[in-house]
Amino acid sequence: MKLAVIGGGSSYTPELVDGLFARLDRIPVTEVWMMDPNLERLEITAGLAGRMSEKHGSPFTVHHTTDMREAVAGAKYVVTQLRVGGIQARIEDEKLGLRHNIIGQETTGVGGFCCALRTIPRVLDIARAMEELAPDGYLINFTNPSGIVTEAIIKHSKITSFGLCNIPIGIVMEVVKHTGCAMEKVELDYVGLNHLSWVRHFTVDGRDRTDELLDKFIELAHEEWDDPAILENMRASMQSLRMFLNGYLQYFYAPDAALAKIKKKSKTRGEEVVEIEASLFEKYKQKELNEKPPELSKRGGAHYSTAAFYLIDAIENDAKNTQIVCCRNNGAIPTFDDDAAVEVPAVIGKNGAKAIPQLAPAPIIRGLMQDIKAYETMTVQAAVTGDQETAFQALLGHPLTPNAIGCRKLLDDLLEVNRPHLQGTFF
Ligand code: G6P
Repeated sequence: MKLAVIGGGSSYTPELVDGLFARLDRIPVTEVWMMDPNLERLEITAGLAGRMSEKHGSPFTVHHTTDMREAVAGAKYVVTQLRVGGIQARIEDEKLGLRHNIIGQETTGVGGFCCALRTIPRVLDIARAMEELAPDGYLINFTNPSGIVTEAIIKHSKITSFGLCNIPIGIVMEVVKHTGCAMEKVELDYVGLNHLSWVRHFTVDGRDRTDELLDKFIELAHEEWDDPAILENMRASMQSLRMFLNGYLQYFYAPDAALAKIKKKSKTRGEEVVEIEASLFEKYKQKELNEKPPELSKRGGAHYSTAAFYLIDAIENDAKNTQIVCCRNNGAIPTFDDDAAVEVPAVIGKNGAKAIPQLAPAPIIRGLMQDIKAYETMTVQAAVTGDQETAFQALLGHPLTPNAIGCRKLLDDLLEVNRPHLQGTFF
């Protein structure tokens, strides 16, 4: 059975490969194909993946290629984790935000918008290649902005797809840490979009533990938010809502503090990642290294391989268990479009993800969610059509952008900066 990883030259790849070993008895992968346009990085990550496989008795062979179609052909599972324009493009997004005095962040606000415009056409190329060369395969998308990219796949491809993020499983793991129960025993009343979500109830082994866990998470909030002003705002929000808040909600509940924090730093997160990656790749090159190095935890992707293979296990074995993924809403969250990508508990099996009907979101959730969903829907449309007015309106509708004149300047600026990546759509 063939597994393809598009964006296999990512420094995250050893984490992904590491997660496969624990489930090989249930997911009999025999070939891992890694694709990346950056051959230098790819040779290093594929070399390490090969040594990791050898260490475990060579259950699968590792192949690498710069040809996406070769990687995808005949694959049962295709994991996408690419970054169009590499980390340099992310840094440009962050600096664009700073130039316009707004939050420029990997996935939230204008940073996520630029990333979506660059990425959606490339991911749709992958989905189309799968329709032709691996029509029964499953596409598992980690590519950011994961929710927006997943909505593009849902709307513009017939391939069975899942949008995945490490945050839901990260919350589950926090509950495991505090209760000592097994991961499968945790049930979250989780609702929202990717990087914009709320947990309304926690059930552990059939028992409602919401109050106790929320008190714990409020007490430990400083572990998530180290900036005092952000922390104070997030604590106040959690106390009032009595819900667990996705970390990315800081950009909406504490926007001024979040912007001030970004402005205070001498380096953007992308620039920090460049340094972390440089030392990671030096490690990965060492021929004696045959496992995921602990330094990888300096990146943000904790537990993403657990999420990936828990999901693939459920598809492969038609488990029909509940997992939180980004998928087609199909009426699960009242008042949202059927073909919108939402992040909710869904039943996972060989036919894909079926969103489980959710309690209607309270106005405090629904308002922001509708705003961001409208922006995401327009962003998908802009990325596919290259229509500048749709792009302008997407920005105008986002709560973290400037006024109309400012949005026009922002759009002009970002189109120019991203010109090389937008050939064929906007140019
Ligand atoms: C979390 C998010 C990912 C994001 C990552 C950033 O894992 O869920 O969507 O890409 O953090 O981490 P980084 O190390 O790149 O800043």
